Amino acid sequence: MADSHHANGHGSNGHAHGAEPAAKPDTFEVRILRQDAPGEPSYWERHTVKYESDMNVISVLQRIAAKATSSEGKRVAPVAWDCNCLEEVCGACTMVINGKVRQSCSALVDKLLTDHPAEIELQPMTKFPVVRDLVVDRGRLFRALQKVNAWIPVDGYYDLGPGPKVPASIQEQTYPLSECMSCGCCLEACPQYLKVELVRDEGETEEAYQARKNKTFDSEFVGAHAISQAMLFNMHPTGAMNAGDRLEALTAEGGIQVCGNAQNCVAVCPKRIPLTTSIARAGRATTLHTLKKWFGG
Ligand code: SF4
Ligand code: SF4
Ligand code: FES
Repeated sequence: MADSHHANGHGSNGHAHGAEPAAKPDTFEVRILRQDAPGEPSYWERHTVKYESDMNVISVLQRIAAKATSSEGKRVAPVAWDCNCLEEVCGACTMVINGKVRQSCSALVDKLLTDHPAEIELQPMTKFPVVRDLVVDRGRLFRALQKVNAWIPVDGYYDLGPGPKVPASIQEQTYPLSECMSCGCCLEACPQYLKVELVRDEGETEEAYQARKNKTFDSEFVGAHAISQAMLFNMHPTGAMNAGDRLEALTAEGGIQVCGNAQNCVAVCPKRIPLTTSIARAGRATTLHTLKKWFGG
């Protein structure tokens, strides 16, 4: 499990004091898998970074980008990466660090060097197309949320009055699911979630390309995050009104039947979301939904 978890279960903002490496080095090595553009070949590049205490991987990347010079002294284009909240809430900075998928904002250098003093290795997630260097396109992840209707529709933004009360027993089950930050760790670890990379054809309009992408994404596995979000909204008294639509999406091509129950997803979720509980719940609900359909219920 990521070292970013504190006893209270909240992620670190990267400023927490982690275990310092036994002997503080003057510098340390960072190996980055780079890629100049979508579909281009990737290549490893090594950078030497001056050690400072309490760095996280984002601060390392900032220094690497500012120097833009490899360990061999070659001037290089600044490395690209994504980040936003810097406190393990948005999921944008997710990448593979020393072989483990996690958020770079909460990956502390001291801890990484304690575990692996030789170097820190950074790679983009492998299940999403690379945009550049460590930046990936997680569009398919969001498309899956769209497919399973992971929201509660409203018919306007006027005051609708108080909503139905959510019993405490339901709140206890739904709150952990609501912590999902769409980071993609569960998809990176899932053996059933395979990379889909499409390119825009010559002469294809942006609209036609998007439509083709969505059609392809919709035929592929939705992933544990989407299954769990469908269960979250089905448990809500208002969301339950559209429960059938979500179950329909989960029984369609690329739905829950693709899950092989390998349980890798639950092991890597940085928010410790009980994904296999959601998957089991979705399995029961979709079976019931299908039976009801057969018997015209
Ligand atoms: S339990 Fe299902 S969703 Fe989770 S890793 Fe396994 S196959 Fe993927
Ligand atoms: S379920 Fe967990 S691992 Fe998957 S996207 Fe949500 S927060 Fe990330
Ligand atoms: S920047 Fe790391 S999770 Fe938001």
